[in-house]
Amino acid sequence: MSTFPIVRMRRTRQSEQLRSLVRETHLNVDQLIYPLFIAEDLSEPREISAMPGIMQWPLEALGREIERIVALGIPAVLLFGIPSTKDEVGSQAYAEQGIIQRAIQRIKAVAPQLVVMTDVCLCEYTSHGHCGVIHHGTVQNDESLELLARMALSHVEAGADLVAPSDMMDGRVGAIRRVLDERGFSAIPIMAYSAKYASGFYGPFREAAGSAPQFGDRRSYQMDPANVREALREIDLDIAEGADIVMVKPALAYLDVIRQVRDHCHLPLAAYNVSGEFSMIKAAAQHGWIDEQRIVMEVLTGIRRAGADMIITYFAPDVASWLK
Ligand code: PBG
Repeated sequence: MSTFPIVRMRRTRQSEQLRSLVRETHLNVDQLIYPLFIAEDLSEPREISAMPGIMQWPLEALGREIERIVALGIPAVLLFGIPSTKDEVGSQAYAEQGIIQRAIQRIKAVAPQLVVMTDVCLCEYTSHGHCGVIHHGTVQNDESLELLARMALSHVEAGADLVAPSDMMDGRVGAIRRVLDERGFSAIPIMAYSAKYASGFYGPFREAAGSAPQFGDRRSYQMDPANVREALREIDLDIAEGADIVMVKPALAYLDVIRQVRDHCHLPLAAYNVSGEFSMIKAAAQHGWIDEQRIVMEVLTGIRRAGADMIITYFAPDVASWLK
């Protein structure tokens, strides 16, 4: 192998044109999914204190935000609902006139082409804040499946283009697939939060979605951050149950998981650049300690380089405007 001075790595780094020719990873707006929080009992948009620039939207103001997202060229949104009432079984999650069901209809009226994805999980809708139903102090797996499938079906009936279960119950992808197929929705894809870790990086989200567990934590259903083989098993099971897209979440402390999943299977792979990852960058940038745009582009490029095809990120509108 030739080496210096025959080889000079700097030759192809001399101009932006040369650098772009040899660039291996590209970040485009069509790889971005933007999460949106829609709150039932708001009259004005409310900024989430730990997530500067990210709002909870009332239905009435949603149209304008959707127009902005479409104008920026963002292809997809992922919806989270904050209902005005919660109960033990998360009834508002699958109510025909629930906040998400109404939001989907509004969005589809304004922007029929925008891909509307919905998060399917009970934690924002249950009084105890857990992702399934509780008996004897523990989250019941099999009983929760029926409610999750009902929730997914009601989103699709309202017009959702894709459902994304994030609850981490065993068997939920299969349960949702069966119900959708039985009801004539065999064409609706499922994006499974397959490798979802029990992470401290969800902290700001729980304020945003009002979904902090009222007792205990989520370690009996979300994954242990120390495990990667287990992530591959979760991926295999979700594929077997009919997932169309698999996900790793969070992204930054799990880039090795993204890489291994990419090498392990042939499905499209999503990574969720979660709330805590967003807030840390925002906080440091507000102090003037880092250059926000540069860091965001570097982080998202890193997630793509690790192997993600698409990224769910609160930075989507900023990135879309920087890329214009
Ligand atoms: C619901 C859900 C959570 C997130 C997405 N869906 C929170 C949790 O599991 O506690 C986190 C998203 C983020 O932090 O940006 N289960």
